[in-house]
Amino acid sequence: MQPGLNLPGRMSLVPPSSFDSLGRLLNGITPHFAVNGAAVPMTVGEPQDPPPTFVTDILNRQARDYGRYPPIAGTVALRAAAAGWLKRRYELAEGAIDPETQILPLAGSREGLFYSLFALVPETKNGGRPVVLMPNPFYGVYPAAVLAAGAEPYYVPSLRETNFLPDFARVPKAVLERTVAAFYCSPSNPESAVATAAQWHALLRLADEFDFTVLADECYADIYDREPPVGALSLRPGCERLLSFHSLSKRSNLPGLRSGFMVGPPAVMASLRAFRNLAAPQMPVPTMDASVAAWSEDSHVEENRALYRKRFDIAERLLGNTKGFRRPQGGFYLWLDVGDGPAFAAELWRRSGVRAMPGAYMALPTDPANPGTNPAFPYVRIALVHDLVTINAALEWVAEILRDREA
Ligand SMILES: Cc1ncc(COP(=O)(O)O)c(C=O)c1O
Repeated sequence: MQPGLNLPGRMSLVPPSSFDSLGRLLNGITPHFAVNGAAVPMTVGEPQDPPPTFVTDILNRQARDYGRYPPIAGTVALRAAAAGWLKRRYELAEGAIDPETQILPLAGSREGLFYSLFALVPETKNGGRPVVLMPNPFYGVYPAAVLAAGAEPYYVPSLRETNFLPDFARVPKAVLERTVAAFYCSPSNPESAVATAAQWHALLRLADEFDFTVLADECYADIYDREPPVGALSLRPGCERLLSFHSLSKRSNLPGLRSGFMVGPPAVMASLRAFRNLAAPQMPVPTMDASVAAWSEDSHVEENRALYRKRFDIAERLLGNTKGFRRPQGGFYLWLDVGDGPAFAAELWRRSGVRAMPGAYMALPTDPANPGTNPAFPYVRIALVHDLVTINAALEWVAEILRDREA
């Protein structure tokens, strides 16, 4: 088993929250607020552009519907709007997805990422404890989900040589034989890497060979630089061994709406619907009506992407010459190789009041060949979500500190 925290029982599997670790690093440091006279939290993946008014108008108009219990599996209109977006986004054939049997609403994609494993993890697999694969670094809910489902997490580093995504084919065969599911995130957080069709194919083939389910975390699917990222559904429209998770948080600047959905094979979705019936939160009716409007409209998302491109342009102009720079392919994070992520984040905070997240706080030292080595140690994650003037000023500090450290 790979290492986790030194806590009792199953809690030993849960790594600390990256934000708690960052607090421990920065709390004792007095910053000089050199940007806007205030702290600039570029640690949080929260879009700062306003939500579309055609969506918030619906929430305001429908307020009386908070007086009704919502249908747990969502309204027909919501499931149809989600299926309609999937069809447009992934160019699926008419009727490829049946909204009635294959789609479930989620209070944010995080909800489904947490409890889907409950429908997928048996008591044992091939005589051993079931394993769930995940990238390292990872989104914090993945290990929590594995812990809750009673499975064993297996962390696979997302390295430069594997396009900053995990290559699960490198996992030892004995582990793959016990594998029941694999989390895979594209466009990825924190690296802003996008899986190629070949990478998706390889993963889905591995899932067929070892009989596990791919949990495709695609909540950044609509935020990209040039090409729309290939989605798991384009390659597997029938959803065999695939659950895919989507969200309005990034696409429509609605992280506080808590609206997403999952799509998967009818049999798995039937058990997840039964589970949701018993245990999960419903999505309020006004949220569903607002979500129908957001999933059905694409021009606000195009405007959103154009703004992100401007942010990426600023980053490229200011940092393009530094050795660690990569322009995000999808998602909105700069994943910058600064040599020593925690030292860099501490210096950036002290000199400018800009907060960046050290990669090491989103990853675990899990490589058996290099014990104690955290694969994300050289990196910081910087969320490019603020207005252009703030981003420009903050990244000038990033560039200056990099220059000073190289000198
Ligand atoms: C990789 C990843 N997955 C899932 C989520 C959850 O998003 P939400 O629950 O808002 O849909 C996030 C949010 O930041 C994320 O970065």
